[in-house]
This record gives sequence, structure tokens and C-alpha cells, in this order.
Amino acid sequence: MFLNKLVITLCLCMWVSQAGASETLHFVMWKPNQPELWDRIVGIFERETGVSVIREIGPHSSTAAHALVTQKLKNRDPKLDVFMMDVTWPPEFAAAGWASSLDRFFAEEQRQDFFPGAIRACTFRGKLYGIPFWTSGGLLYYRKDLLQKYGFDPPTTWEQLVRQADTIVRGERKDNPALKGYSGQFKQYEGLVCDMQEFVLSNNGRLLDYESRKSTIGLPANLQAVRFVRDRIIGKIASRGVLTYEEPESLHVFIQGHAVFLRNWPYAWAISNDPNKSRVAGLVDITVLPHFPGGQSASTLGGWQFAMSRFSTKKQLAWTFIEFMTSPRIQKILAIDASQAPARKSVYRDPEVLEKNPHFAKLSAVFENTRPRPAMPLYPLYSAILQRFYHKAISHERSPLEKLAEQADDQVRYLLQLQEEAGM
Ligand code: GLC
Repeated sequence: MFLNKLVITLCLCMWVSQAGASETLHFVMWKPNQPELWDRIVGIFERETGVSVIREIGPHSSTAAHALVTQKLKNRDPKLDVFMMDVTWPPEFAAAGWASSLDRFFAEEQRQDFFPGAIRACTFRGKLYGIPFWTSGGLLYYRKDLLQKYGFDPPTTWEQLVRQADTIVRGERKDNPALKGYSGQFKQYEGLVCDMQEFVLSNNGRLLDYESRKSTIGLPANLQAVRFVRDRIIGKIASRGVLTYEEPESLHVFIQGHAVFLRNWPYAWAISNDPNKSRVAGLVDITVLPHFPGGQSASTLGGWQFAMSRFSTKKQLAWTFIEFMTSPRIQKILAIDASQAPARKSVYRDPEVLEKNPHFAKLSAVFENTRPRPAMPLYPLYSAILQRFYHKAISHERSPLEKLAEQADDQVRYLLQLQEEAGM
């Protein structure tokens, strides 16, 4: 009798440990803004499939998360099955042979529901390396109560924004001495490239001319936009502190009621309007980013994708997880509870989603026209050159813009040459 029980217990233990071993998935993601929501959606997957997902949470910044994920892939880490990939990573991860192509799992017709820009960003040399999770684009958040009080409509040009910010900050000084006009992401990291690209493109500037392999950092229209940020924004309507801000810090200032305008991504809507997190809940609205005279508003394409490591030994299981996470059902939860902008167009037509996020009706049009960062395998190196240039250029009142741009253009030319020599 005792022996029988022992044998049964031993068998059960072996079965559980085997099942555990084969049903475990390793997933690396960056630090989320709403961790409780992630626990919930990953929890649903675990309950419904019996698979246990071991999550490794990396740093929040895209630049730092990139360092973590690429390190693992360089080491062919077997404890990495699925990872989140920024919208700029696919060409690099595909060319390096780190990400698995997903074409065999994800048929052509299934792509129709996604924004074409997001699918394009995941495609390299005709193959698909990521499934868009959410798409994103830069937006202008503003305090509708303050704009109304001073009789302003939301600004359409950068000059108007600066003037409105100045007037409001001066008018509110007594009641709110900490109030600044503008908050955004100006630390030296990937977010800086996104923000600066919006200034540059909205002045009819140009990014890398990839086809003709020309660097364009020093173009007069580009430098004019950079000069505006240096002379009119940093240390003026924005504190010098913004030079150290990523998304969380810039948002924090805004939800404390210490900024009139904020440039951020769609997720900031839910947090700024949540009375448990924000002192300005109900007082916030969004609009498209301003432009310079003769230019057009430009919103940088952002967003995150699910990707599968080429070194994963559990590709089918990894796909089951990716399919679940990018399904309309999960995109709906993220849209409703975190105002994350779905990468699937159909979710924008869902009445429950629209009820919770009335601003999504406008967003869908913004997301049809977002502007991508250059798609190139050596993008991180290109971005690092831009990050250094922009940060130096806007950090000092008398920074030698032309000289700095010339140096940066030289570095980009060298990079493009390297890329060409490597046949990329
Ligand atoms: C957001 C965007 C991502 C961008 C990053 C920069 O996470 O979705 O594309 O690179 O911000 O900080």
C-alpha cells in the first residue's frame, strides 16, 4: 500500500516536472508603464494554455532594452523565446539572423487588419520578423482648462505654442510657480531622435536619404528646427531638466500639473486622465503636433512588436504566445485599460474601445500618416550619432550647430560606407 502510494507520487512528480519543463516560455520585455495590466494579460494566457511564462523585465528605455536583448541574442541564449522589439529594430535583427521569420505562421490575409506602416516596419527583404503589438505616434497633450482660461485654441505652429506657453506660465506664476510651458523627451537616448525628428520634418527638413546614401543632418531646414529647440524651448518654455527626461519623467511633470504642454505617445492619455495617478485628470486633451510655417505636422512612428528568437527551441509554443498577445482580444484590453493604440485597425471601430478612448477616432487618421525612422540594419549606430548630435546641439546656448552637424554627417557617411561594404 505504502509502496503503491510512493510510486504514484513519484510518477506524478515526474509528470509535473516534465510538463513544467516543456511548457515554459521565456519572454523578455521592457519595463511597462502599467505592470498590473501585464500581469493580467500574461495571466490569462497562462490559465488558458497551462504554459508558464517566465518574464524578464528589462529597462524602460528603448536604447537600454536594445542592449539587453541583443546581448542575449549574441550569446544565443536558449532562455529567450519571445521578445519585444521596437519598431526600428527589425532590419537589424533580421540581417543579424537573430529574429525568426514569421511568414510560415502568419498568412498574408492576416496582415490586412494591421496598419500598413507597422507591417512595413516589421518586414525586411520581403520577410516578416515581427507582429505589431501596438502602434504609436507622437502627440501633443495640453491642459484644456488653461488654454481655455487664456482664450487660446490648441496651437498649430511651434511659434504659437511658445507664445501660448509663455503667456500662461506668466499668468499662472503666483498660483503655480512650478508651472513650465513644455515637457518632452530630450535625454540622450532613442526618444530624443523621435522628438527631434518631429521638429525637423515639420520644417520640411529631411532625414537620412537612404536611397542615395546621403546624410542630411546639416541641411539648413534641419538646423533651423534644431536651433528653434535650442533657443526657444530648452531652458525657456521647458526647464533645462528636460535634457534628462525620458517618457516617464516628462509625463510625471505633466500629471503633477507642472506643464502646459507635453509631447508623448498615446499611452499617456489613460495615465493623465486617471484621478488616482494624475492631478490634472479631466483637464487634458490631445491634438496633432505643431509645425513650422510652410511645413506640416509630423508624428514619429513608434510602437512595439512581438518577435521570436531564432535560437528558441520552442518555436510553435512561442508562436502560440505571440498570436495570443497580438490578437484583437488583447489589443482591446490594452486599448481600454491602458489607452495603448492598437496596431489592428478593426479595434478602432469597437464601440467599447471608443467609449473609453474618444480620442482614438482622431488617432486612427494620425497613425495612417506617421513618419518612420530610417529602416536600416545599422540603425542603432545611426541613431547613436543623431542622439549625440542633437543632445550636444540643444544643451548649450551657443553650441556650434553647423560644425557639430558637419561632424555628425561625416560619421553617418562612414557608417553608410561600412554598411555598403558589408553588403547590407
Ligand atoms: C516609444 C515608442 C518607440 C520609441 C520609444 C523612444 O516606446 O513606441 O518606438 O523608440 O518610445 O523612447
